[in-house]
Amino acid sequence: MVLYAFLCIAAAVFIGGLGVRIWAYAATPVPLRIPVTPAPLTRSGVVMRLFWEVVLFRSLFNASKWTWLFGWAFHATLLFVLLTHLRYFVQPAWMWLGLVQDLGGYAGLAMVAALVALAGRRLFVPRISAVTAPSDYLALALLIAIGLSGLAMKFVFHTDIVAVKAFALGLVYLDPQPLPLDPFLIIHLSLVAVLLVVFPFSKLLHGAALFFNPTRNQPDDLRESRYAPRITRNGVPAARSDTA
Ligand code: HEM
Ligand code: HEM
Repeated sequence: MVLYAFLCIAAAVFIGGLGVRIWAYAATPVPLRIPVTPAPLTRSGVVMRLFWEVVLFRSLFNASKWTWLFGWAFHATLLFVLLTHLRYFVQPAWMWLGLVQDLGGYAGLAMVAALVALAGRRLFVPRISAVTAPSDYLALALLIAIGLSGLAMKFVFHTDIVAVKAFALGLVYLDPQPLPLDPFLIIHLSLVAVLLVVFPFSKLLHGAALFFNPTRNQPDDLRESRYAPRITRNGVPAARSDTA
């Protein structure tokens, strides 16, 4: 019951925090054109740029192949693991969820391996550890601990999945249900609650922030709509004009 309340509060903080942070990003004035070049010239070009950033982490690929490999592998497997978790929250579970479920364990193993590699990069590459804050390690440690506790349930200390599903549906419909008192399940869910609370207020928000990043979301149309003082008929410059 305590964990149920904790998860409900964490979910509320997550949704509210996400809303507040995204609102703040959207309301921040961006008076200057500062796209990183070479940049697309049109809005549809920007959509494609963001698409490849989100799906393939293109600029990270250009910057560092090893970080890209482990970073991309982590995000892809995280997405996969979260998809397999959907089966706890939808009733009746969709057909395709059964298909991805069997691969969830492998995705979980790959996810933790990629996270350990990312942590190793922060610990052992001097150039990176110099710019690493304790919160960077904590985020990685939190995700590794969630992954390991999940894997422990998947492969060794099995839990009552039917009861977990009833509990998870109880979270969605605000109808508290008992949770099996398995240590790894309690650890897994407590850490997930911590993740939900810190997510909107930490660097973990970078996925949402990307869409509001002016170096990535602006077309390079500076020359088409530039500052160009126009001289009025009596020879006095007009205050300002944006020529289209
Ligand atoms: C309220 C939300 C969640 C619930 C109820 C939940 C529950 C579970 C359960 C019961 C298992 C064991 C699966 C089995 O035995 O077949 C598991 C595994 C796992 N969980 Fe979670 N979990 C939640 C959120 C998360 C989140 C947010 C992450 C990642 C950040 C995560 C990562 C994992 C991993 C990597 C595994 C092992 C691989 C797998 O079974 O897919 N879980 N989880
Ligand atoms: C649209 C969604 C997302 C995108 C496009 C995205 C993109 C990225 C990129 C490009 C990096 C590499 C940054 C760098 O080192 O230069 C990164 C790192 C990372 N992301 Fe994400 N991300 C997304 C969502 C998430 C989510 C939902 C989580 C966790 C819950 C997450 C956790 C992390 C972690 C732990 C790192 C590694 C940081 C490190 O090197 O220590 N990301 N992400």
